[in-house]
Amino acid sequence: MSFLDRIAAALAPAASDEQRAEARAQIQELAVNEPFAEEILAHHRRIEGLFAEARKARGPAAQTAIADLAVLLNAHSMAEEAVIYPEISEHSSKAHAGMAYEEHAMTKVQLAALQKLAPGSQEWHEKLDHIESAVQQHVYQEEGSWLPDVIRYAPLQARQRMSIEFREYFERFDRS
Ligand SMILES: [Fe+2]
Ligand SMILES: [Fe+2]
Repeated sequence: MSFLDRIAAALAPAASDEQRAEARAQIQELAVNEPFAEEILAHHRRIEGLFAEARKARGPAAQTAIADLAVLLNAHSMAEEAVIYPEISEHSSKAHAGMAYEEHAMTKVQLAALQKLAPGSQEWHEKLDHIESAVQQHVYQEEGSWLPDVIRYAPLQARQRMSIEFREYFERFDRS
C-alpha cells in the first residue's frame, strides 16, 4: 500500500473543510506573539495558493507553479524538521513527530514523481490531487494538534529560540 493510501486509511475519514477551518482559526489565535507559528501559518497559506495556481495553470505555467511549490515545500519542511519537530517529539509525542517526518519524506518523493509527468495530463492531475489531500491532512495535524501542543507546553525560552532558528533555516533553503 502506498504512503498516501496508508495515510488515507490510517486517518480516514480525512478532516473535512470545516474541521480544517476550525483548526486554522484556533492556531491563528494561539500563534499571536509566537513568530515561528505565525511564519508556519503564512507558509501554509502560500502552499495552498500554489496548489490552486498549479491546478488552474496550463503548459509551462503549471510546471513553474509545481517547481515553486517544491522549493517552498522543501524549505518549509527542512526548517520544520530541524527546529520544530524535535519539540513536537518532546511536547506532543514521539509518534506525532515520527509521522510528521515520514509525511514530509513521502511528499517529496511524490512531488518528484509529479514533476516527471506531463503537466495537465489526467495522470498529472490525479497525482496533484493526491498530494494536495495528503498535504492538507498533514497541515491539519500540525495546526490542529501538534503545534498547539508545542505552543502550550514548550517553555517560553525554547519557543523564542525556535522562532529565531526557524526563520534562519527557512531562509537558508528558500529560493522563492
Ligand atoms: Fe510539516
Ligand atoms: Fe507545516
